[in-house]
Amino acid sequence: MAERTTTGTGRRGTQAVVVRGGTVVDQTGERPADVLVVGDRVVEVGTTVSPPRGAVELDASGCVVSPGLVDLHTHLRQPGREESETVESGARAASLGGFTAVVAMPNTEPTLDSAEAVRNVYELATTATAEVAVAGAITVARAGERLAPMAELAELGVRIFTDDGTGVQSAGLMRRALEYATGLGVTLAQHCEDATLAGDGAMHEGAWSSRLGIPGMPAVAEEVMVARDLALARSTGARIHFLHLSTAGSVGLVRRAKAEGLPVTAEAAPHHFTLTDACAAGYDPVFKVNPPLRPESDVGAVKQGLADGTIDAIATDHAPHAPEAKDLPFDQAPPGMLGLQTALSLALTELDLPLVRILALMSWQPAAIAGLDAARGGNQGGPVAPGSVANLCVIDPTATWIVDPAALASRSRNSPYGGRSLTGRVRHTVFRGEPVVIDAEAQR
Ligand code: DOR
Repeated sequence: MAERTTTGTGRRGTQAVVVRGGTVVDQTGERPADVLVVGDRVVEVGTTVSPPRGAVELDASGCVVSPGLVDLHTHLRQPGREESETVESGARAASLGGFTAVVAMPNTEPTLDSAEAVRNVYELATTATAEVAVAGAITVARAGERLAPMAELAELGVRIFTDDGTGVQSAGLMRRALEYATGLGVTLAQHCEDATLAGDGAMHEGAWSSRLGIPGMPAVAEEVMVARDLALARSTGARIHFLHLSTAGSVGLVRRAKAEGLPVTAEAAPHHFTLTDACAAGYDPVFKVNPPLRPESDVGAVKQGLADGTIDAIATDHAPHAPEAKDLPFDQAPPGMLGLQTALSLALTELDLPLVRILALMSWQPAAIAGLDAARGGNQGGPVAPGSVANLCVIDPTATWIVDPAALASRSRNSPYGGRSLTGRVRHTVFRGEPVVIDAEAQR
């Protein structure tokens, strides 16, 4: 496969940065250490580092210093919906959330289904404050009819393909795509939703949808596609990644598939382990998302899947919608919620997991799924070691803050967490040696 095209120029100059007084936590363990960065590299990790004069000091006392977070699922909206988000504003939100890389979803206008469209996003990302990897579309225009030129996109470094926003409805086409992906060494990621079962549903089909009179989409709309794709993965031997799993049935299917040895991975979004379908009670479209918010029992199953390793990654599904687009009656509003700036804090606040497990779910495991890790020539997901590119996240696990949608860096305001108090916050983010966030403030 061709070299991955990297994005972002990172910091300019050769300024040194020292991250002082924190506890480094990565896949190799945990130790109190300062981290010295010169240029774009970590040069020293230890308790006696001596930075050159003039080095920028980042105070990490009481903090965890980890590899930068990696989001497998970000809608950056550019090109086509710049009023909702741009590569630049989305990357800034990512930096504030501790992410040093995001995978940009292809449901832009036009779709990211051609070499030209992919190159354009790379170009837009050259000055971004986070690495932007592109997910290419599986089918042309995400129309589910013909395969996109996946080989051409893979040549440009695209390592993950999806029609996210919709699932590939045709089993025959999905089978062909899986065979093709295996040959190219890339991964297909499925948004599992059977259109004939989901119909015009605008929320989870259950007691709340009946009470509210909002058309529902049943859990089985997701589960039949998970089951179908597992059968296809079994028969083709292809790798597959399941996006935003939201039901107990889906989690159970993936758990059994993993036990059987199938090479499948899965992600869950923070809103699926922190909110339920009861949130729709006030008809506020900020709670409309796809897959929809589910009942408590599904939320519990997603948490269990995160705890027992069935689910490999927490991915934001950051889906900005400008106020004028989102502010419609519930059944007409577009689905989607902001996620980049709240994901880590929600995981730290709501999941009963050790911090290192949360970092595995948000940094090195997603880096590996996206093909951005060191094993595949990338610079994401750690470990924090001399010689590696300095992509770091400094987290204060005890800081509390209240989410104010108006203060988020996104161009949109559709966070469902306004007013919620969260514990644990990103203090600094270093991207390719550049402190892009200092004391929870974006630097550019
Ligand atoms: O809620 C969602 N919003 N789910 C999707 O699959 C697409 C996304 C979007 O692009 O807005």
